[in-house]
Amino acid sequence: MLRIYSACLLILLYLPNIWCMSDGKRETLKAEAASLFKHGYEGYMKYAYPADELRPLTCGPLYRDPDPNNVGINDIHANVSMTLLDVLSSLPVIHPSAFPKAVKLVAETVSFDQDVKVQVFEMTIRALGALLSTFQLLDDLPDDPAEQYIKLHLDENDHDDSWIWPSRKDTTIDLKQYKGRILELAYDLGKRLLPAFEPITGIPYARVNLRKGVLKGESIETCTAGAGSLLLEFALLSRLTGDSRFENLAHQAYLAIWNRRSPQNLLGNTIGTHGHWLAPGMSGVGAGMDSYFEYGVKAGVMLDDDTYYDIFYDSYAAIQTYVRTTDGFIYRPVQTRLLQPASPSTIDSLSAFLPAMQVLAGDVESAIKSHLVFWNLWRKYDAMPESFLWQERKVEWTGYPGRPEFIESTYYLYQATKDPFYLRVGEKILHDLKTRTKTKCGFATLKNVMTGEQEDRMESFMLSESLKYLYLLFADIPFPNSNTVFTTEGHPLKMPASLLKAPSSTRRAIRKGESSTCPLYRPFAAGGISTRTGIIVGIEGREDYDYARSLVYGLDSSGVEVEDGSRIWYDGGICRTSSEPKFAFEIVLSPLDASKSTAVPPEDPSPGPSKVDQDSMTGDYHITDIEGLRLGVRWRFDGKGYDVVNIGPHRIRQGQNVIIRDPAMRDHLPIQATSPVDSASPPELLLRFLSYSSSAASQNGQLLADGGQILLHAVGATATFGTDFVSFTSSKTETGPATWGIGHKPLRLIIPPEIEGRPYQGCSAMSLEWLGINKTSTDPFVLMVSRGGCTFLEKLMVAEDIGAIGILVIGQAPIKEGEPIPPEREVEGGFEEGLIRPSAEFDESHPRFRNVKKVGMIYTEWVIGEVLRKMVEGDDDKRKVLGIEILNIDAQDGSVHPTMGNRPTSQINEKSRTLEGGLLMVGEWPIMNLKVTDNALRFKQSNLPEHV
Ligand SMILES: *[C@@H]1O[C@H](CO)[C@@H](O)[C@H](O)[C@H]1NC(C)=O
Ligand SMILES: *[C@@H]1O[C@H](CO)[C@@H](O)[C@H](O)[C@H]1NC(C)=O
Repeated sequence: MLRIYSACLLILLYLPNIWCMSDGKRETLKAEAASLFKHGYEGYMKYAYPADELRPLTCGPLYRDPDPNNVGINDIHANVSMTLLDVLSSLPVIHPSAFPKAVKLVAETVSFDQDVKVQVFEMTIRALGALLSTFQLLDDLPDDPAEQYIKLHLDENDHDDSWIWPSRKDTTIDLKQYKGRILELAYDLGKRLLPAFEPITGIPYARVNLRKGVLKGESIETCTAGAGSLLLEFALLSRLTGDSRFENLAHQAYLAIWNRRSPQNLLGNTIGTHGHWLAPGMSGVGAGMDSYFEYGVKAGVMLDDDTYYDIFYDSYAAIQTYVRTTDGFIYRPVQTRLLQPASPSTIDSLSAFLPAMQVLAGDVESAIKSHLVFWNLWRKYDAMPESFLWQERKVEWTGYPGRPEFIESTYYLYQATKDPFYLRVGEKILHDLKTRTKTKCGFATLKNVMTGEQEDRMESFMLSESLKYLYLLFADIPFPNSNTVFTTEGHPLKMPASLLKAPSSTRRAIRKGESSTCPLYRPFAAGGISTRTGIIVGIEGREDYDYARSLVYGLDSSGVEVEDGSRIWYDGGICRTSSEPKFAFEIVLSPLDASKSTAVPPEDPSPGPSKVDQDSMTGDYHITDIEGLRLGVRWRFDGKGYDVVNIGPHRIRQGQNVIIRDPAMRDHLPIQATSPVDSASPPELLLRFLSYSSSAASQNGQLLADGGQILLHAVGATATFGTDFVSFTSSKTETGPATWGIGHKPLRLIIPPEIEGRPYQGCSAMSLEWLGINKTSTDPFVLMVSRGGCTFLEKLMVAEDIGAIGILVIGQAPIKEGEPIPPEREVEGGFEEGLIRPSAEFDESHPRFRNVKKVGMIYTEWVIGEVLRKMVEGDDDKRKVLGIEILNIDAQDGSVHPTMGNRPTSQINEKSRTLEGGLLMVGEWPIMNLKVTDNALRFKQSNLPEHV
């Protein structure tokens, strides 16, 4: 998809002159960026080399900290002249005359045989990436030194000084002689990182000693980005050396993380090498996660491998659905279980990499929006604070260590849009770096972006990325996009055609048409026509530009921007942006039959050719039987609507169509499309447990919603059968019959006594008296039972016999360490634990079979049952009355609220299920690649009723 990018860039934007930047100005800024880079490089060489880093305030070397716990420094300091290594791939572009000497120094003096514990991730992206990139550069040089001299622009006017070796005029030095040594160093480093990989899970330890491997007692804690961002460097190292271990291990580590994703395709942040999420379930796009996603799309580009594209697009859909706010501007951490944002909610500076990745993935519109938030942050603080509490609009962590992410995104967006707005953003960055961080010998870290207080440290990425990307922005050099990428540390790496794995013939067939959708930036789409002036405008003229500004600066109650205590009015007030279209969801198509309820047929997890078949000529998919098919639908990056991206396990690629020719649908036109969340229970719900004093408990047979005291909240899983918990047709009025559903009133929860010291499993009916239920009362109730003893369906039938309207099934007790695992609980890789979704095999021929529809089932974890039991037991003479209520876990805004009477806005409404011109509409947007064939269905558009 990226191969054709350059073609897209040929489209030029018309922009009013006042907003353009002259080429002369741009050249000046480019020269300034280069001069800042040289200043930092020469300062490092003069005052710090061969140490790993420069102290920019005291102008001396920074060495490893004797305190082994100071990982902030020691993770990166391997005594390998890290700053020199890291800038190696930038020198030929920005400061060529320094390159020959730098290569010679690295080749002759750097050794990885060091007794140091360092971070695997940092060594990979900074050192290994630099070496591989430099090897490729040397490898590409002509053999003749004089030609090398010209190719490296050593003849051009460059800053002259004593650090150029041996002389700028010498055209006889053969630089290519070092390429073997550079690759040898890379290979040596790679081998020293190998012991980090945990043999069973494949997840690498975060840190390794370069001489001794993983040390005894080493922490098992690592993060998603650390384990999942080795792919590019390791794959290239394997293919250059022929030693396949690196690529295999990096691939396994990447998949090991992905295989532990949540049902919503969200990943956690912190994971143990044993494969369990630690500090459970906080997802997002910032620190600890960022480059995992970046390496998915970049591995797709570099290795031309669909596995990575597929993982990337699935994880990106989850980000756009859950991590992004509904206005499409902010990406904040969310809990992977509850899908709620963290509180307090923050944006960290590392997540400013996101717009660059979105550009690379083709989602330029989202990139423009997210970048605007970071732009306003930079503008407000003249730097990027490490962490920002966006709801309170306050800085959480004040530091700025010269990070490149925002600059990198500005560069990518300029290349994608050519809107000079991004050059002006760069101009402001350049100005701030110069005035706030530049010192006599380098660039200082800002300890506090508000006061400007400096710290005596210059990270290697200040030169190798921040100033490099600033230079690339002004130099207007396109980013690589065909089997070549910038790594997450800014090192260009490419997979030569000779080392690419040939795609299989199946894959070639499947990918047919892939390139027909270009991740195109359409002129004016980003700016458009200003409603105020009618002229064509750029990014700054977008109506949501001010909205992004208000997110960071804030407004007072009268719509006035607040800035440093003084009030600034601006034209037109604030434009609320409308909600973004829902990014990804599933639909189920079913024949419309008024006599049937809207029950969704059970999913067919591996539909065979009798249902779905691929046309080997066109690559299109044909559906001949829609029963049980789930269609994954995703927003298109070109903004035209949606595409079907998968039918169950079958993945639909760009340019391929899905054609429905199910004759069963002929009599049921028009097509009814429902989102499963529309008609069936969401897989997870939030349960709220309340306690009541028995006197105040009941009124008209129902517990009082506000009379109870909240005991606890817990996540529950719905069963795939029984009551639909989102049946909005059921009565919720004060007088109607009670049902168990989302947002309904709390129901009484009955906790039966134990039988012979074991909890009641609900496999046989018991008397109401024994259960503790008042026979004369008509109170609806939910029965708590334990898992095991019989099938879930049998439990539901028993509950119906007793008269319950729901059962809460409690999971089994965890197995203590050292205890044998009962065979029925064994699953691959251990034993079953946590939440499961109860399901039932319907054997309709069984004499006792009954399809229970009026009783619902929710499953929750063992510990919840324990806590509730303790609460009942704790009461002396009279039993405490417990209530249970179901709340919706709202996927869209992340807030938890009952959905009394209203459908959650994220759901597709009735009116949206229309066919227009043969296209199925979701809201106002068509599903572009879904076609209903005329010959099978013979529908006429004019016959369509207004509401379906
Ligand atoms: C740093 O590495 C060099 C060799 O590359 C070695 O001679 C020196 O002792 C090392 N310094 C420390 C502090 O380990
Ligand atoms: C049982 O319920 C009936 C009707 O709600 C009520 O009048 C009666 O007092 C209850 N009995 C007990 C023992 O709670």
